[in-house]
Amino acid sequence: MGDSVGGRNIRVSLAGAGSVGVGVLNLLSERSSELGALGVHLSVNSVFVRNPARSRPGLRAEAQFTSAAPTPDDADVLIEVMGGTTDAGSLTRDFLEAGRPVITANKALLAERWSEFEPYLRRGLVYAEAAVMAGTPVLGPLSTTLRSSRLSGLHAVLSGTCNFILSEMETGQPYSAALAEAQRLGYAEDPPDLDVNGTDAAHKLSILARLSVDPAMPFEQVERRGIASLPDDLPRQALKGGRRVKLVGSLVGSRQGWRATVRPVFVPVGHPLAALDAGRNGLILDGSPCGPVSFTGGGAGGDVTASALVGDLMAWLCGHPGHTPRPSAAPTPDADTTVLEEVPAWD
Ligand code: HSE
Repeated sequence: MGDSVGGRNIRVSLAGAGSVGVGVLNLLSERSSELGALGVHLSVNSVFVRNPARSRPGLRAEAQFTSAAPTPDDADVLIEVMGGTTDAGSLTRDFLEAGRPVITANKALLAERWSEFEPYLRRGLVYAEAAVMAGTPVLGPLSTTLRSSRLSGLHAVLSGTCNFILSEMETGQPYSAALAEAQRLGYAEDPPDLDVNGTDAAHKLSILARLSVDPAMPFEQVERRGIASLPDDLPRQALKGGRRVKLVGSLVGSRQGWRATVRPVFVPVGHPLAALDAGRNGLILDGSPCGPVSFTGGGAGGDVTASALVGDLMAWLCGHPGHTPRPSAAPTPDADTTVLEEVPAWD
């Protein structure tokens, strides 16, 4: 989608109204004057949800709900925040096959059904900033400005839930209480196993990999270890020794090509990824000639995720294409410049 849609009535279909969908509805309502300044009149159709009668805590905007799935005839653009890979996948495909853009927070769908959706990403029809690091923009720079550089490695804290849990455990909170609080704050997936076993971070890392180093990297190639059975006292003990435990996704070069891992590591206090607390995410990369680059910001929660979705909508309205994969695999570097120490396996 490269043409401006200025001066038109734009019909938006929203699929999903959990904490992220509610955040989108609120933000669209709060940004109505900015959207109007783009020269469009935006209308949101009935919101597609499984249970229209359910109460939506925090909703401040007017909205109608329906259990009837939208079709591409109903709308000019789909915002998909329902999650999952089956129903969300069919809906997304319907819109894309009809040439309609899709703005999505669905990292599992892009991770696991990549080969189906890659052609649409290549056409600029998929806007996915919210799928990785929520409100912290990384897919935009990786699919544009940073393409001129050769990456030597990338390391990222990608799970707001795990980062929150590990930070709480440093203060003496048991794992189970910290997880319950992360769920209450709206950080965790449903079920949260996806977060704590490293799958959610692996989903995000596979998307980062396809945009930055290898467009064909299969999701199954991402090696992963989570934090579910981490001893309660380990993060606190590590901190006493000047290190923090973080779940980190890494892309590093090897003789066999790019290697993608998600694993708990020790990072020295003072390392850029060590400073991240609570639900925050961070990504550091090194490349030539860009040099070291870092991003930090909110990585989970309804409102920060909504900021990326509405931002992507504004990008589309301004005529910017979506996030495109690398054209071909990047050469692997001779060595990773950042070595992170993996937490040893525990029983
Ligand atoms: N469950 C995810 C996380 C939400 O904790 O990071 C944002 O993708």
